[in-house]
Amino acid sequence: MEKETKVCVTGAASFLGSWLVKKLLEQGYTVNATLRNLGDPNKVGLLSSLPNAGTKLRLYEADVYNPGSFKQAIEGCEYVVHMATPLLHQPLSSQFKNTSEAAVAGVKSIMELCIRSGTVKRLIYTASVTAASPIKENGKGFKDRMHESCWTPQEITLPYSNELLAEYTRSKTLSEKELLRHNGELEVVSLVCGLVGGKTLLSSMPESMAVLISQPAKNKRRYRTLRFLEELLGRVPILHIEDVCNAHIFCLEKPSIKGRFLCASAYLSSADIASHGRKLYPHIEIPED
Ligand SMILES: NC(=O)c1ccc[n+]([C@@H]2O[C@H](COP(=O)([O-])OP(=O)(O)OC[C@H]3O[C@@H](n4cnc5c(N)ncnc54)[C@H](OP(=O)(O)O)[C@@H]3O)[C@@H](O)[C@H]2O)c1
Repeated sequence: MEKETKVCVTGAASFLGSWLVKKLLEQGYTVNATLRNLGDPNKVGLLSSLPNAGTKLRLYEADVYNPGSFKQAIEGCEYVVHMATPLLHQPLSSQFKNTSEAAVAGVKSIMELCIRSGTVKRLIYTASVTAASPIKENGKGFKDRMHESCWTPQEITLPYSNELLAEYTRSKTLSEKELLRHNGELEVVSLVCGLVGGKTLLSSMPESMAVLISQPAKNKRRYRTLRFLEELLGRVPILHIEDVCNAHIFCLEKPSIKGRFLCASAYLSSADIASHGRKLYPHIEIPED
C-alpha cells in the first residue's frame, strides 16, 4: 500500500472508529476522519494525540442528519469506511422521522459523494449482526445456519426488545440494504460485525463492552440487550476489536473485493458467557438465573 493512500473514516471518535484510525495511522495511511463536533476537546484530543496524527490526520465535522456534510472529508480519498450511525433521534430535525430515515439518507448521500468524487474506489460499511438474523420470515424458529444471505425480517417482536433496540436494528438493516443496492456503481463491502469487545481508547466504557460484561457487572439494562441479541440471532456472535480493525484493513488492501461478510469469532449463549465469567472471575458471583 502506497504511503499516500488516503482513507476517510466516518464516526472516527467511536469505539471502533478510534481504534481503526489508530491502526491506519500506524500503518502509514493518511486519514480524513469525521466527527460531529470539532469543538469537543475530549474527542478531538483523543484523535489528535494518536501516533502520526500531526502529519497524517485531518479532522472534519459531519453529521448523518446533514448528509451532505461528508463531502469535504470524502474528496480526494481512495477508500471510505462508513462507521457513523445515529443512535438517538434528533427530534428537532424536521427532515427525518427517525434514526432509520436519517441513516438511510446518510448512506445514499455518502454513496453519491463517493461516486462523484472520481477518486473513491471502494466504500466499506460497518454493518451489524442485528441486520442478519437467521430467524425465519414467519418469526417461528431459526434457519439451519446464520450466513451472509440472512436478513432480519421487518417488524419482528421479541420479548427482550425495546424501542431503542428495535430502531437500531431497523436502521442498521435498512441502511445496509440501501448500501448493497449500489454494488456495481462502486466496489461496496459490508462487514457485518458481531458484538465487539476488547480494550478501548475512549475515556468511557463502550456500550458493546458494557453489554458483554453485563452479567458480572450485574447491569440489568445491558443484560437485556445481551438477551435481545441471543433471541434475535440464536447465539451472540462476538468479535475482538483487533479483529474488527484487521477485517477493515483487509478489505482496503485486497485488490478487488465486494459484497457482504459476516465477522465474528465465536457464537455464544448468554449462559456460555456467564460460565466463562465465573471461570475468569471466581470471586464475582454471577447469578444462575
Ligand atoms: N460496537 C459494536 O459491538 C458494533 C457491532 C457491530 C457494528 N457496529 C457499528 O460500528 C459503528 C461504530 O460503533 P461503536 O460501538 O464504535 O460506536 P460508539 O462508540 O457507541 O459511538 C457512537 C458513534 O456514533 C456517532 N454518531 C451518533 N450519531 C451520529 C450522527 N447523527 N451523525 C454522525 N455520527 C453519529 C458518534 O459520533 P461522534 O463521536 O461524532 O459523536 C460516535 O462516533 C456503528 O456503525 C455501529 O453500528 C458496532
